Amino acid sequence: MAIIERVPTGVVGLDRMLRGGLPRGRTILLLGGPGSGKTILSVQFLYRGIYDHGENGVYVSLDESRGHLYREMEAFGWRLEDAEREGRFLFIDAHPRRMRFNVERLKSRIRDAVDEVSARRIVIDPLTSLTLVYPDVVRRREVILELFSLLDGLGSTNIATLELRARGLERGVQLEEYLAHGVIILQRIRADRGLVKTIEVEKMRGVDHDDQPRPYRITDRGLEVYAEEQVF
Ligand SMILES: Nc1ncnc2c1ncn2[C@@H]1O[C@H](COP(=O)(O)OP(=O)(O)OP(=O)(O)O)[C@@H](O)[C@H]1O
Ligand SMILES: [Mg+2]
Repeated sequence: MAIIERVPTGVVGLDRMLRGGLPRGRTILLLGGPGSGKTILSVQFLYRGIYDHGENGVYVSLDESRGHLYREMEAFGWRLEDAEREGRFLFIDAHPRRMRFNVERLKSRIRDAVDEVSARRIVIDPLTSLTLVYPDVVRRREVILELFSLLDGLGSTNIATLELRARGLERGVQLEEYLAHGVIILQRIRADRGLVKTIEVEKMRGVDHDDQPRPYRITDRGLEVYAEEQVF
């Protein structure tokens, strides 16, 4: 079997769970409830990519405005404005309420941005907003597939986020999970010591990974994952 190169996420504990990082060139779905840290984790992936691994990044926002995101991320010491000025980062505003959403135009904006900064990492956050434009699940699935196949063709390593609809151990699988190479889930699980924030690698095609949920916390340095700790 060919060895798949790993791309460190910038979250040490998560990289340990992934035996080094995300598989290079793949698109990973990051699922989580509101406020679970999807945006923080995806920006951490881009920011650490730029400054620790020399991999430039593009953030496609389907939710937060540029100003809002930049301000929020400053709390973690991540200065996106500087990264942008240095030509290592680009923000694409694609929120359907601010922009007239058009998938062809978005695809060409992504291609242009990736060219402009030679991006190796791309984030789309969150796919859930596409529901506003495509309430029909079949059409939405097509659009997500189109975006994923664009990302596949770019050779970058990518994270797309999605709101977790139901939680708990018996939750159903959301259709987007079938479309991604890998799925990581952030959720709160009821354990003996109360509600615990957990991160779990649900699937990661073709690579070995931790199969247990692990606790995480959001600190002033971003997400911290405790890969050696048990939840149950
Ligand atoms: N400086 C900080 N220190 C610790 N925790 C923080 C800090 N800033 C934000 N948080 C926590 O991070 C959470 C928000 O994280 P984030 O915006 O990444 O979540 P999200 O999953 O993207 O949410 P949404 O579904 O609303 O987009 C907040 O609920 C808060 O608990
Ligand atoms: Mg968010």
